[in-house]
Amino acid sequence: MSTQHRIPPSHLHQFVQAIWLHAGSSAQEAQLVAEHLVAANLAGHDSHGVGMIPSYMNSLAQGFLQLNQHPTVEKDAGAVLTLHANNGFGQVAAYEAMQLGIERAAKLGIAAVGLHHSHHIGRIGHWAEQCAAAGFVSFHFVNVMGDPMVAPYNGSDRRFGTNPFCAIFPRRNTKPLLLDFATSGISFGKTRVAWNKEQQVAPGYLIDHQGKPTTEPGVMHQAPYGSLMPFGLHKGYALATMCEIFGGALSGGRTTHDETLVTSHDAIFNCMTTIIVDPEAFDAPAMQEEAESFLDWVKQSPQSGNEAIQVPGEWEEHNRVARYRDGIPLDNNSWQQICAAALQAGMPQEELAAFRALTQ
Ligand SMILES: NC(=O)c1ccc[n+]([C@@H]2O[C@H](COP(=O)([O-])OP(=O)(O)OC[C@H]3O[C@@H](n4cnc5c(N)ncnc54)[C@H](O)[C@@H]3O)[C@@H](O)[C@H]2O)c1
Repeated sequence: MSTQHRIPPSHLHQFVQAIWLHAGSSAQEAQLVAEHLVAANLAGHDSHGVGMIPSYMNSLAQGFLQLNQHPTVEKDAGAVLTLHANNGFGQVAAYEAMQLGIERAAKLGIAAVGLHHSHHIGRIGHWAEQCAAAGFVSFHFVNVMGDPMVAPYNGSDRRFGTNPFCAIFPRRNTKPLLLDFATSGISFGKTRVAWNKEQQVAPGYLIDHQGKPTTEPGVMHQAPYGSLMPFGLHKGYALATMCEIFGGALSGGRTTHDETLVTSHDAIFNCMTTIIVDPEAFDAPAMQEEAESFLDWVKQSPQSGNEAIQVPGEWEEHNRVARYRDGIPLDNNSWQQICAAALQAGMPQEELAAFRALTQ
């Protein structure tokens, strides 16, 4: 079993920022990438946190990820914007896309933003939280261009990505209601975390290269490759399909098929269609009270096991409280891979040693 480190969030943020500055990112880009990745770990989604850095560094070295890019407006139809992300950091492209969409929704009551050809946009909840912080409801359909990992319902090999769906509803005086998940039973990143920790995954999530059920996360990381399964049988598969079409086709981007298959698993490119709505534009003065009445009602259900009933988004909030207090847990394999990526970025040995000394 791999040993675990606990790293204070502010320290990890500085380290990640320094890595990308050494790699050649502008100060703003390094800051946005560090903020996003550390926030994903704080939210409990280690699959989309700082553990992505080695993959991003490989993508940069292989010429896929382009530093210091900004999305270009390809079409401005008023309430609908189409943006080309120019293969730049998703942490910059999605941030700027949400800012543009929020400005439009503030003027018009609703806006849709198609963002395509963006390098990995990470944890989608982060972009929904940006919309909710400005007071808006949002819906996000995302595909992963040309990097199939998930088998269709009744299929036996990988045909599409882990295509996340996300939606957020801001609440008065408390954290927003947040739905944010991959349409595969587990995200690809969770198989990486399990693999790094030398753990099996629960049954029902993976099949091997012959289509047989397995709990071995290595089938997603070394040939011959297996596949993830969609969540919820035909329902998850159907939602994944809509994410592929809305995310990949409607946004002006590409879907996954034989012409778009990538040659490297580090070349993770997302397309996302986002709909941002001003809740004040509805004639619904009791909206907040109605929402709270429902959430209270649901929580009054007698508990069936040891775990309390939560509403979507609460899981992330509990993790934030615990991880701000106790530090961010990181297994040793992931930590060593991130340190190797820091050297790859050009961080001097002495600077790396100073960061390492603070995390033992
Ligand atoms: N960029 C990409 O290409 C990509 C692809 C796939 C996934 N992702 C991201 O990966 C992350 C992890 O996805 P995942 O599928 O592993 O998520 P997950 O299975 O951990 O589900 C998370 C969702 O379930 C809710 N939740 C958790 N426990 C709950 C409970 N007891 N009661 C009610 N709701 C509960 C959470 O609040 C959240 O909305 C997400 O942030 C997603 O956006 C990104």
